[in-house]
Amino acid sequence: MLKICVLVSGGGTNLQAIIDGISNKTITNAEIVGVISNNRNAFALERAKKHGIFSVCVSPKDYENRELFYQALMKAVDEREPDFIVLAGFLVAIPAPMVEKYRRRMINIHPSLIPSFCGTGYYGLKVHEAALARGVKVTGATVHFVDEGTDTGEIILQKAVEVQQGDTPEVLQRRVMEEAEWKILPQAIEMAANGTLKIGEER
Ligand code: GRF
Repeated sequence: MLKICVLVSGGGTNLQAIIDGISNKTITNAEIVGVISNNRNAFALERAKKHGIFSVCVSPKDYENRELFYQALMKAVDEREPDFIVLAGFLVAIPAPMVEKYRRRMINIHPSLIPSFCGTGYYGLKVHEAALARGVKVTGATVHFVDEGTDTGEIILQKAVEVQQGDTPEVLQRRVMEEAEWKILPQAIEMAANGTLKIGEER
């Protein structure tokens, strides 16, 4: 059983896709051992509670400085003793020691086809605003391992989504979630849980 810890900041629709994937068995050999949010008001925490999954908020507001917050975050993660970490809309830069500890054991979902519209400042709706401003006809989502950079880790899965005439950032965001994110994130976890995706240091 792959023990997964999911880190969230917002609505948690990607978390929901993982929960649903486990219950409908598109994800096998995996269980969520914890959901951790930096944002007390994240609806993702409610989703976890509703499904009886351990959840906790570690908010930077409760700590004097970034270093203390990072220590508390890492402690909360380590306490769940996860084999695998999923960043599902987690809007916090991961501290270097945590990247090192969970190298090739931590994945992120990004709502574009990396290397387009990624890196510092490209999160949430901003990604889709940029895609529309550039006039791309195809966008999508990417699941990648987390390394020291922002959206620079090894790519695991990508899925393309068509941009349509008249799309607003909100409409495009929703289509990218439905057609790409909610599919490839559970798929990457299924691969990790069943050996199709080699995780950990040895490749
Ligand atoms: C998603 O678009 C994800 O790709 C990005 O943040 C958003 C999170 O949405 N990193 P949700 O909280 O999973 O609904």
